[in-house]
This record gives sequence, structure tokens and C-alpha cells, in this order.
Amino acid sequence: MRLGVNIDHVATLRQARGTEYPDPVAAALLCERAGCDSVVAHLREDRRHIQDRDVYQLKESLTVPFNLEMSAAPSILRIALDLRPAHATLVPEKRRELTTEGGLDLAAHPARIGRAVRRLRAENIQVSLFLDPVQKQIRLAAAMGVEIIELNTGKYSDTRTVTAAGREAVKIEKAAGYARAQGLTVAAGHGLDYLNVSRIAAIPSLSELNIGHSIICRAVFTGIVPAVEEMKALTGEKIS
Ligand code: PXP
Repeated sequence: MRLGVNIDHVATLRQARGTEYPDPVAAALLCERAGCDSVVAHLREDRRHIQDRDVYQLKESLTVPFNLEMSAAPSILRIALDLRPAHATLVPEKRRELTTEGGLDLAAHPARIGRAVRRLRAENIQVSLFLDPVQKQIRLAAAMGVEIIELNTGKYSDTRTVTAAGREAVKIEKAAGYARAQGLTVAAGHGLDYLNVSRIAAIPSLSELNIGHSIICRAVFTGIVPAVEEMKALTGEKIS
């Protein structure tokens, strides 16, 4: 299982005071040293954490692939096309949300998302679509010609009982199997932490988990290298 580390919240700390530190690029390089397989950063339209200069420096500095999380807004798409990261993950974005709240609705916005997918792929950027674990959305993603989808584990992570978590995990497992059968590479993420990750990491059709908040929070106490190493150990070395 590949582990993508999202370093947005290193930048959240920096932006809270308008200082130069902590530097998300330095954090990303430490994540790389700790064995992560990719680095993820979300350039939000409101620039609440990651800034434009961060994404350019990440692209320059990293050896592992850089995955730019982004909305399909024209101003962000322009930056992505100029930056040409290895991967772009398209997500829905709302101004007032604390974090990404759900997957893309490909039935509601096929033209807007389809256009962004085509323009990114034309620049040899691998595109992933962030989706709820719903067959109809996966079918539409496959029809759009993307190679990768990322299944939203937010609902699984928010559950408060073992039974509800089990139910959500089964939905993710079925959706991942369906997506694999459509020829897609399947990632998952959102809200995963050191306690809830194992059930998701055990899903055979998943190739990658993208995890941010819990790793950066643990890093406050342990340092970022042990925080990433521990998550990497929990997510295992499954070959997919
Ligand atoms: N994947 C996607 C598409 C996301 O939007 C986020 C949050 O930025 C993550 C993964 C990581 O979520 P978390 O920070 O809760 O681990």
C-alpha cells in the first residue's frame, strides 16, 4: 500500500501567524525521508494554508511524485497546467467548509470536470477524481478517461460505533472492487488516523492511502519522521 502524506496543516500553522515557519516544503522532504510514496498539497482558492510558492517549491524539491489537490476552478486550473505536477486530484471545494466535505458529483457537473480532466491529461498530468463510494460516480469517472479515483473515507472516519464503521468500510471495499474491475487504480483517504486506518488498509483493491491531519497532529509530539514511519508501518507493504 502506497502512502501519500498531505502536508497542508504544516502550512495552516504558518498561516495562523503569518510567519515563515513551519515550512511545508521542509516537512515534505522529511516525509520523503521517512518513506512516504507521494506528497499531497491542496492549493485552495482561499489560500487558507498552502500558497502558490509552496506548490512550485514542492514540484522543484521532491523526488517522490507530487499530487496537487485542487478544484476545477479556472484560476487553479491555470496554475496546475503551468506547474505540471505528477498527479492532480480534483475535489469539490466550498468556501465555508472546514475540510473537503464529500466527493465530486460527476452527474451534476460533467462538462466542468470533464474539461478540467482533458486539459490536465493533455499536459501528461495523471488525474484522480475524489469520489464517494458510489457505483454511479465510479462509472462516470471511468467514462471520463481518468486512471485513478480516490474514495472518500470521511463518512467511515466520522462514525462513532464499530457497527457503523464496519458498514461504511464494506461500502468502500465494494466500491474499490467495482472500480478495479473498471480498470481504475484506487486510492482512498480523508479522516484516516492511527486507530481507524487498519480496516481500510486491509482492503485488497486499494493501492494508496492519502493521509494528512492525523499525521501532522502526531508530528507535534513525536516529530514528523516517526509520525510518517508509524503510519507507513500501519498501512503495510501490500503489493497491489
Ligand atoms: N484526500 C482528499 C481528497 C482530501 O481532500 C484530504 C484533505 O485535504 C485528504 C485526502 C486528507 O485528509 P485528512 O487530512 O483528513 O487525512
